[in-house]
Amino acid sequence: MKRVVYRAFGGPEQLVIEEAPLPRMAQDSVLVRVRGAAVNPADIAIQHGVMKDQMDTFFPVTPGWDVAGTVEAIGAGVSEFVPGDEVLGYTRQAVLHQGTYAEMVATPVGTLVHKPRSMTWAEAAALPLGGLTAYQAIVHTLRVRKGESVLIHGASGGVGSLASQIAIAQGARVIGTASASNHAYLASLGADPVAYGEHAAGRIRELAPAGVDAIFDAAGHGSLQMTGAVAAPQVRVATIADSAPHATTVYARLDAGDLEALAALVAGGKLKPRVGATFPLSQAAAAQRLVAAGSARGRVVLLPSLAAPGE
Ligand SMILES: NC(=O)c1ccc[n+]([C@@H]2O[C@H](COP(=O)([O-])OP(=O)(O)OC[C@H]3O[C@@H](n4cnc5c(N)ncnc54)[C@H](OP(=O)(O)O)[C@@H]3O)[C@@H](O)[C@H]2O)c1
Repeated sequence: MKRVVYRAFGGPEQLVIEEAPLPRMAQDSVLVRVRGAAVNPADIAIQHGVMKDQMDTFFPVTPGWDVAGTVEAIGAGVSEFVPGDEVLGYTRQAVLHQGTYAEMVATPVGTLVHKPRSMTWAEAAALPLGGLTAYQAIVHTLRVRKGESVLIHGASGGVGSLASQIAIAQGARVIGTASASNHAYLASLGADPVAYGEHAAGRIRELAPAGVDAIFDAAGHGSLQMTGAVAAPQVRVATIADSAPHATTVYARLDAGDLEALAALVAGGKLKPRVGATFPLSQAAAAQRLVAAGSARGRVVLLPSLAAPGE
């Protein structure tokens, strides 16, 4: 099988594609033929070494934690899946070694759920990390309820677009900041779009004169500095992109119940991950460069079935 690896910390230039033996599979694990693997900002940060003091690294490292694919084989103790099942999951491990930028990945059953039939492979790969982050921020940390108004900074991005849809599914009204080119997309989700910039606070206050009940910052860039000007007195604030004394920082973690809840929202037509671009495995470096540039308009996904020109 083919896999993408890096042998030293660094940027996209460290990535090479190589042949490798099939990954070994434990009794509680399944072997998944990868149909889609998302390229998350976290992959790029980790590849630069930001987690090297927290996670043991065993080079060569295959990046990537998000996967969508087909079960090829099951471990001796597995009853949850059978070969041929379509799955998606968040395969993060305690160490950096075996990731999802590959044709095959072995992963414990608890990291996977059945893929809703309505999803494309790219959409399914775009869901796990972004979806878990958005769900845990909106539902668990902020506890967004019906009738509330929620401000989401970076509402058009990989996490923000999922958070907007999840908050709307909770019955909330969403005001989302984004670039002007993403306003029609946000409106199509049912959110009220607002441009970033010096007049953003005034525009948000016009939309929510009593102040917003909750704020989720998925953008950073000092977005939370306007909190005092736009918030109701008892506002709850969560962030994944910055730190602020008045905000709870959310760190996404694997929770099979949350993954099931996300799949149910998709199956119910309430959630659709936004895919910005797809690349073949051999162009993982170009895919990472697009993510780093911040111009992808949705999640960038590697599709092993795609062939690069000349392959
Ligand atoms: N703590 C965790 O567990 C966790 C999990 C996932 C992600 N994250 C972090 O959360 C952040 C967002 O992740 P993502 O995957 O959603 O990234 P993404 O898909 O690249 O989205 C980034 C968003 O930032 C907005 N943005 C870009 N430039 C901006 C600026 N100057 N001012 C305000 N907003 C700007 C973009 O909106 P426009 O294009 O509309 O401008 C876009 O919506 C990243 O920093 C990522 O590392 C943390």
